[in-house]
Amino acid sequence: MSQYTEEINRRRTFAIISHPDAGKTTLTEKFLLYGGAINLAGSVKGKATARHAVSDWMEIEKERGISVTSSVLQFEYGGYCINILDTPGHQDFSEDTYRTLMAADSAVMVIDASKGVEAQTRKLFKVCVMRKIPIFTFINKMDRDAGDTFDLLDNIEKELGIATCPLNWPIGSGKGFQGVYDRETKCVLSYADTEKGTKEGTATQIPVEEDGRLREAIGQEAADKLLEEIDLLDGAGAAFDLELVRKGELTPVCFGSALTNFGVEIFLQHFLAMATSPLPRKADIGLIDPAENDFSAFVFKIQANMNKAHRDRVAFMRICSGRFDAQMEVRHVQGNKVLRLSQPQQIMADERRILSEAYAGDIIGVFDPGIFSIGDTLCMPKEKFQYEGIPTFAPEHFARVRQIDTMKRKQFVKGIQQIAQEGAIQIFQEINAGMEEIIVGVVGVLQFDVLKYRLENEYNVEIRLENLPYGHIRWIENKDQVDLEHLAGTSDMKKVKDMKGNPLLLFVNPWSVGMTLERNKGLVLTEFGRN
Ligand code: G4P
Repeated sequence: MSQYTEEINRRRTFAIISHPDAGKTTLTEKFLLYGGAINLAGSVKGKATARHAVSDWMEIEKERGISVTSSVLQFEYGGYCINILDTPGHQDFSEDTYRTLMAADSAVMVIDASKGVEAQTRKLFKVCVMRKIPIFTFINKMDRDAGDTFDLLDNIEKELGIATCPLNWPIGSGKGFQGVYDRETKCVLSYADTEKGTKEGTATQIPVEEDGRLREAIGQEAADKLLEEIDLLDGAGAAFDLELVRKGELTPVCFGSALTNFGVEIFLQHFLAMATSPLPRKADIGLIDPAENDFSAFVFKIQANMNKAHRDRVAFMRICSGRFDAQMEVRHVQGNKVLRLSQPQQIMADERRILSEAYAGDIIGVFDPGIFSIGDTLCMPKEKFQYEGIPTFAPEHFARVRQIDTMKRKQFVKGIQQIAQEGAIQIFQEINAGMEEIIVGVVGVLQFDVLKYRLENEYNVEIRLENLPYGHIRWIENKDQVDLEHLAGTSDMKKVKDMKGNPLLLFVNPWSVGMTLERNKGLVLTEFGRN
């Protein structure tokens, strides 16, 4: 056992996935409230300088009209040290949102009880499944009218293909919401609408066995319905199995209301107890154990130009093993250099804090003079191994890029390649074509604006974007066994290659993917590209 084991074992690093408006921000705020982090925010060190940095940052946000602020929140609760990774939604949904999930050990999925599974949740969920990380579901907004509970669970199982195991069960919803039945203690916790911003009130606990008390508290009709539902649930629902939860095959489900603060703390407690501390991660030399090894980390996100004057970038890395100390030298494996990480900082919701130490499970942001790429490994100078690369995620919007002034060819190619290297966009070429015809693919359409803005402002190149109708991209997993030229595709299909020469197929219609698979026996397509 290493001297860091204790620190590492108490870490829980997770991302919250949801569709915009399901209540992710509200739930996060409530978590922070329990951890006392909201009150603490005013006392972090280096506040004056942090404030300054924040305002610089905001300037860019304002100018671009997008949110570039990355939130990694750290707080303590019940002896645990918790890192929450924000997965930006709304407008700025981008490949970064997916990549953030590569740095998390588990995910909390927030679902609006009146809406069920929505588009963005579905997309993020796919990445969680690929990584086989545990997923914990919070069905939110029970204080609003919700659909039938069994239907909601059915919706999750059918839409996402994961078994559900409710830890508690709601009694009514909307105006008729009376609380939840806790399956472990077999007690009803009555709904108490606590004031916004205050901690959860003490809900009254009534054992369901005490029939009289139960009926008095929630009424005859609700009691009958509840008892019937408990019977059904105990008879038909998936049994709880921690092994399956940890493999990401079964999701524990809690019902509550983040806004009125009901069921949040219980959910947090269940979640912390079931989620794992940082697990060993795959590298080219085998599994790297978080506690048994010295410092190592990988870069999962690069945020460009936080300060316009300096063209600086911040590389976000997830520490995978050991302890990080701001004074130590580390090896940047891909760059084959030993260096000291500059200005290591933890980026909080609205401020940056310079840190002196961090442990496996933590996320740090470091100043990047332009040397890091997504997926790069950092380790101790004496070592030299690489973590498994981060996949590239399927863009959904495509455009052909043309530069307006053809004399600026060099800047154009350099600019677009650098922006692609940071991971904001993906670039493709027609098979057999050079850099004169470039197709750009993005996960969120806003990235097109970012590309145009950055090429103009940083590289002095004007471009024109011509939208293309494709919306579905697939990498050819078994490219060595496939004769690309004779591949029998559909009429809406286009063959392209990425910057590394890997072949890909673009489709307009989703069903063409299936059709192409049918027409080419043995062809293996994937939505995740490997670097
Ligand atoms: P997001 O981060 O997932 O996008 O969602 P966010 O927390 O911002 O919540 C979206 C809206 O839903 C907010 O209302 C929020 O107050 C509300 N909300 C969140 N949880 C609950 C809940 O448990 N019950 C109810 N009834 N509402 C909830 P808003 O009007 O858009 O914003 P605000 O004016 O309240 O800030």
